[in-house]
Amino acid sequence: MPGPRVFVSRRIFPEVIQRLAQGCQVSMWEDPMPPPRAALLAQVADCDGLFATITERVDGELMAAAPRLRVVSNMAVGYDNVDVAEATRRGILVGNTPGVLTETTADLAFALLLAAARRVAEGDRAVRQGAWRTWDPMGWLGYDIHGATLGIVGLGRIGLEVAKRARGFGMHILYHSRQRRPEAEAQYNLTYCADLDTLLRQADFVTLHVPLNKETHYLVGAEQLRQMKPTAILVNTARGSVVDQRALYEALRDGVIAAAGLDVMEQEPVPLDDPLLTLPNCVVTPHIGSASVATRRRMAEMATDNLLAALGGQPMLSCVNPAVARY
Ligand code: DGY
Repeated sequence: MPGPRVFVSRRIFPEVIQRLAQGCQVSMWEDPMPPPRAALLAQVADCDGLFATITERVDGELMAAAPRLRVVSNMAVGYDNVDVAEATRRGILVGNTPGVLTETTADLAFALLLAAARRVAEGDRAVRQGAWRTWDPMGWLGYDIHGATLGIVGLGRIGLEVAKRARGFGMHILYHSRQRRPEAEAQYNLTYCADLDTLLRQADFVTLHVPLNKETHYLVGAEQLRQMKPTAILVNTARGSVVDQRALYEALRDGVIAAAGLDVMEQEPVPLDDPLLTLPNCVVTPHIGSASVATRRRMAEMATDNLLAALGGQPMLSCVNPAVARY
């Protein structure tokens, strides 16, 4: 029995591919860059399953080009690259990988918070450019993390892990979230803000942990940035379009807020002529929130488990449109 056909859109761990190959006919895109659109559409034409990542746009056009497609397994917790409504309409199951990347992403949010507050990237660049001429009592001054107030927007898994780290740094913690979490409030000493503006006005650091959808698109724009303290720092490890990037550039340039740490951008990779890249008070990393060896392996394994389960008529570990399931 040859088994279902699966296309893996990016290079992943060989042992994961081997496991997939035991039950499926697998082809994997070998190039380090994502498949161009035409190649992707051609590759999925006769596939039953697609192992995708956030670099693939899985929309109606792709689904129409893949008449046999039954399962899309996204190797990410976020699935804004997938048109889930369209998949559901077509009876295609969509899986994602929550849980396995929670701590790793929270670590990076904290790394960006520290880097932006203490000017780590800026300092490193200065050293390499020969600008470290003396120890300067007034030089390279940043902001303290200990004793500061952190505002967490979105208290899901990752937001809560950030809160745990913040406690270790002696921070006061506010949060704003769709759902109030009284148990977490009691356990980690968190203060709930019913409205976002209250959090923005009080926080020294604001960190975003919401999925990208219609409600969260440009959640932080010029108006929200104006609510923040001039000494505040914004951290975004969620999705670029949660922040109006043009408004952020102007706010950072004009001192409306002090600094930002961004792992995600509206357009990825960020174009080199993006004005944000001209600002010393903006630290940018290339969407590496989940990029540790162990976590990326766990994500690939979970995406494989999801794919194999669904192709075999079993429940996925995590399915975002379970209504489609026919088991
Ligand atoms: C996710 O999982 O959604 C990340 O952004 C990619 O690691």
